[in-house]
Amino acid sequence: MKVPFLDLKTQYESIKPDIQKEINDVLDNTAYICGKKVKAFEDELAKLHSSKYCLGTSSGTDSLHLAYWALGIGISSQIEHGRLKEEMDEVIVPVNTYIATTETISIIGAKPVFIDHEEDSFNIDPGKIEEKITSHTKAIVVVHLYGQPANMDPILKIAKENNLIVIEDCSQAHNAEYKGKKVGTFGSVGTFSFYPGKNLGAYGEAGAVITNNEELYEKMLRFRQHGAVVRYIHDNEGHNYRMEELQGAVLNVKIKHIDKWTNGRRYVAQIYRELLRDVEEVKVPMEMPYAKHVYHLFEIRVPNREDLANYLKEKGIDTGLHYPMPLHLQKAYKYRGYKEGDFPVAEKCCKEILSIPVFPEMTDEQIEYVAGSIKSYYSKC
Ligand SMILES: Cc1ncc(COP(=O)(O)O)c(C=O)c1O
Repeated sequence: MKVPFLDLKTQYESIKPDIQKEINDVLDNTAYICGKKVKAFEDELAKLHSSKYCLGTSSGTDSLHLAYWALGIGISSQIEHGRLKEEMDEVIVPVNTYIATTETISIIGAKPVFIDHEEDSFNIDPGKIEEKITSHTKAIVVVHLYGQPANMDPILKIAKENNLIVIEDCSQAHNAEYKGKKVGTFGSVGTFSFYPGKNLGAYGEAGAVITNNEELYEKMLRFRQHGAVVRYIHDNEGHNYRMEELQGAVLNVKIKHIDKWTNGRRYVAQIYRELLRDVEEVKVPMEMPYAKHVYHLFEIRVPNREDLANYLKEKGIDTGLHYPMPLHLQKAYKYRGYKEGDFPVAEKCCKEILSIPVFPEMTDEQIEYVAGSIKSYYSKC
């Protein structure tokens, strides 16, 4: 049996007539950028995450860049405010995330300061944040990794006590909840990616930012279009972070299915949990008591990870690595002088994790086949 890592084709087939109608509408209307479909999607995403404001953007990476800049972090914003400071702003960020979260901090002219993660949740360890706060610390970026919300209460408390901005990278956590409330508005701004493989995926590049702060929204709206609300009248420099209308149209169809698809992912996770319960070698991901996990990824921790992945590949099952190397050991951050041993939890987990297929269209047979194959691998060891 073949089990792909995810199956975008089957999902497309299930919504094909609606998608085609919406795409044809865009083509007929010839409004290709930030038109009515994008606006309708922004309203839906804001509603889903109980946020006052939402802006569609060109990608999750651009959403982060836009948010940091508009929040006044780094050299770029100092230029926007007509001044230049000597010292670099510092931004606290988990070491276990996709590089988009951190490279955008460097790009705006600030310094990412890594924090190790909790072993159980894979998310930033609130207990390790305070020791990294200096007089230059400006913000904490929380990433709700793999679809599990980070432990927001202690993070928000530290942020309040130290006057720090909080940004949530929700790129892997559409529809996820912390203590019954959707992620994205615990801090000043929540950012999203709609990369095609995400829980809510476009048919190309797309992203969004959400906020309850009107002033910040107005600023991000300006920045999204070269510092202009009125065309060709530029209050400041900005960038092009606009969302394509075709992506707005696709996302507006897909967002109507997000609850069903989230439940589908949670169902797969629950069955995996039951079927793998007795396999001593396999640690399934924990769902923290405060979290509604949306299983963008299902990370198991196992011995002989590479060998297991090869075995599954031979059986027709695709797997992934998220991520093969923690950020502090990547060549991109060599200049910072980090070394092996600096973030022991991330380093240990990184050697053991394996992402197994999880997507809402998975059949019971596929779920059982994956779990059964993992079981049969360890029974032979
Ligand atoms: C945690 C996280 N942040 C940011 C991004 C960047 O999103 P995009 O690929 O849409 O630029 C991703 C995408 O994989 C992500 O997983």
